[in-house]
Amino acid sequence: MSTSTALNSIATRDHGGPDILCEDLVRIYSTEGVEIQALQGLNLRVEPGDVVALVGASGSGKSTLLNILSGLDKPTGGRATVAGVGLGSMTRQQRVNYQRHTVGFVWQQTSRNLMPFLTAAENVALPLLISNARERRERVGELLDLLDVSDVRDRRPAEMSGGQQQRVAIATAVANNPSVLLADEPTGELDDAMSEIVLESMRDASEKLGVTVLIVTHDPTIADHVRRTVQIRDGRTSTEVLRHTEVDEHGVEHLVAQEYTVIDRAGRMQLPSGYMTELDLRDRVRLELEQDHVGVWPDAERHHPVEPEPHHPVEPEPNRSVAPHPAAPTPAATPTPASESSDGADPAATERADEKPATRHTGSGGATAVGHRPPVEDKDPNAAFRPPKEDQ
Ligand SMILES: Nc1ncnc2c1ncn2[C@@H]1O[C@H](COP(=O)(O)OP(=O)(O)OP(=O)(O)O)[C@@H](O)[C@H]1O
Ligand SMILES: [Mg+2]
Repeated sequence: MSTSTALNSIATRDHGGPDILCEDLVRIYSTEGVEIQALQGLNLRVEPGDVVALVGASGSGKSTLLNILSGLDKPTGGRATVAGVGLGSMTRQQRVNYQRHTVGFVWQQTSRNLMPFLTAAENVALPLLISNARERRERVGELLDLLDVSDVRDRRPAEMSGGQQQRVAIATAVANNPSVLLADEPTGELDDAMSEIVLESMRDASEKLGVTVLIVTHDPTIADHVRRTVQIRDGRTSTEVLRHTEVDEHGVEHLVAQEYTVIDRAGRMQLPSGYMTELDLRDRVRLELEQDHVGVWPDAERHHPVEPEPHHPVEPEPNRSVAPHPAAPTPAATPTPASESSDGADPAATERADEKPATRHTGSGGATAVGHRPPVEDKDPNAAFRPPKEDQ
């Protein structure tokens, strides 16, 4: 790919924070009296210049999120901010400006991205109509060159391959120096070789133009092209994989990938489904705070039910009130699972559980403190979450 042209226009930002910030984002669709919760309190933060892949099963909410971030749809609740612009309360005109200058999009259907009756060069020039003719010509030349599609500049979309169309679409989407480029399945209609080229083009565009890129994809090769992959499950971000290269003692470079579970501000997180199956974790789990990690154990009572202790009610003496013993333990909330894969989790309950992770109800009416050490046979290193050793 030619990169010889000096790009004289790159994304500039006058906001200080992340380029994409979603906080407890909710989107509920109501169709024929049925409510579908497509996003269920999604949190996501993407820093300027990052290239992030968003993956997840069909129906997990990926396109819903991109539609909100692109200003085509509004969230039902929560907050979304892109390049410092709050998306919740924009006027029509602000929305048009936002779509013209702050974000660019590339969709899966090649036909949706380009005007069929315009050439590649004319398509890229379209968002630049406010620039003068000379600036426009230069910018179009730079972008077609950067995306390696100069050779098709005078062809219409029907006369290009799918990969060429998507690269012209990327050039068109970034023509106005947006801070953020959003792409929903940009390689969905392409073969493997062409997908590779298009994904590499997006990364290249990010590096050269300073644009932040969020790509929704099912493409299994995405891991080769991005440093960060975020998985979305049931309308929430659930896990992330971060990759970096390390050089070993022989000077050989290795790609190191580390998987993380996402935890939100209320302490909610989703355990990987493989862990849940392996240890039969469901309904509730027990947490233990260790020096540098939190242990998660299956609910021992479900596996080995505890016999309730015999109940001996104390009869108060006549005419004397019974004050609670000062040393008596305060009844505590039943520990809340570390993973809230079900809906409507009560953040307060999670916080209460955080305060007394080693306290459980026995069913006898009072709370009974259990030992701070879990039974040895229950402790499985797979269930212990250690914080990352280093920031990546
Ligand atoms: N306009 C709509 N009206 C009603 N329900 C919708 C609408 N759009 C999406 N949904 C529902 O919201 C949920 C999330 O849909 P979404 O399109 O975001 O999924 P996705 O992760 O992009 O899936 P895919 O990988 O198949 O594209 C699904 O259950 C879907 O049926
Ligand atoms: Mg989709």
